[in-house]
Amino acid sequence: MDKKITVVGAGNVGATAAQRVAEKELADVVLIDIVEGVPQGKTLDLAEAAPIELYDTHLCGAQSYEQTADSDVVIITAGLPRKPGMSRDDLLTTNAKIVKNVTQEIVKYSPETILIIVSNPLDAMCHVAFETSGFPSNRVIGMAGVLDSARLRAFISMELNVSVGNVHACVLGGHGDTMVPLPRYSTVAGIPITELLSADRIESLVDRTRKGGAEIVGLLKTGSAYYAPSAAAVEMAEAIIKDQQKILPCAAYLNGEYGIQNLFIGVPVKLGKNGIETILEIKLTDAEKQALTASASSVQNLVDTLKTLDY
Ligand code: LAC
Repeated sequence: MDKKITVVGAGNVGATAAQRVAEKELADVVLIDIVEGVPQGKTLDLAEAAPIELYDTHLCGAQSYEQTADSDVVIITAGLPRKPGMSRDDLLTTNAKIVKNVTQEIVKYSPETILIIVSNPLDAMCHVAFETSGFPSNRVIGMAGVLDSARLRAFISMELNVSVGNVHACVLGGHGDTMVPLPRYSTVAGIPITELLSADRIESLVDRTRKGGAEIVGLLKTGSAYYAPSAAAVEMAEAIIKDQQKILPCAAYLNGEYGIQNLFIGVPVKLGKNGIETILEIKLTDAEKQALTASASSVQNLVDTLKTLDY
C-alpha cells in the first residue's frame, strides 16, 4: 500500500485501531509499543486473520521507531488508562512524559506526518504533542469530539429507536465533564432533536454523554473504552488519508476562533490531506458560548498545571 499509518500503543485502543485500519485497507500499519513482543504478536495475529477477512494490508510491530519512517498519519494512544474513580486529569503527569517521548521519536522519522492524539487527558496531551513536535497546528489533532458525539448519537438512536445512520450529533469543548453537547445541532434525518424529544429527555442523554467514558470504565473495572475510541480515531485518519474534506468535531489549536486563544479544544473542523483544512465557527447561543468558555477554562487550568510540571 502506498500509505502508512503508525499506531503508538498496542493496548486495547491501539490494537483495535490497527485492526480497523487493516480491515479497511486504509494504509499499511506499524504498531509500536514498549512492551517486548506485544506489538509483534498482535500484528502477526492480525496478519493471520487477513486470509479470512480478506485484507492485503501489510502489518508490522516494533519497539523502536525506525519502521515508522515516513508515516502519513500517526495515532498516539500510548499512556495509562483510567481506573474506576479516576478522572482523565489524574493521568496528567504520567501521560505527559509518555506523549512527549513518543512525539520526539515520531518526529525524528516522520517530520511531515499528521498526529492524531488519543491519550488522556486529551486536550492537554495535544498541547504536549504540539509543543514537542513543533508542527504547525493543522498537523496536530485531538480525538475526542468524534467519540463524544458518537456516544450521543448512539443514545439518541436507542431513545428513538431509529437507525444510527439517521443520527448526527455535535459535541464541542474539552474531553471531560465540561464537554458541550449541542442538541440544536444534533439531528435525526435532518430534524433537530429539540423537535423530537422533551427537554428532560435531552438533558438525560446529554448527561449520559458527558459521563460516557466513566460509564464504560465503571463497567469494565480494568481499563477504559476502546471500540468507540478506536473507531473515532480511524474515522479521522481515513478522512486525512483519503483527503475526504470531512467535517468532524476534533480538538484543534484555536487562535482566536470562538474567542479562545492558544488552546486545544473540541470544535468542528474539516479534515483532509493537510490534516485540519479549516476550523468552522458555528453560531452559538449565549448559553452555549458560556458553556464552551467554561470548558475552555478547565482545559486552560490543566495546561497551566502542565507548565509547572517537569516531565
Ligand atoms: C473515553 C476515554 C477514552 O472517553 O477518554 O472513553
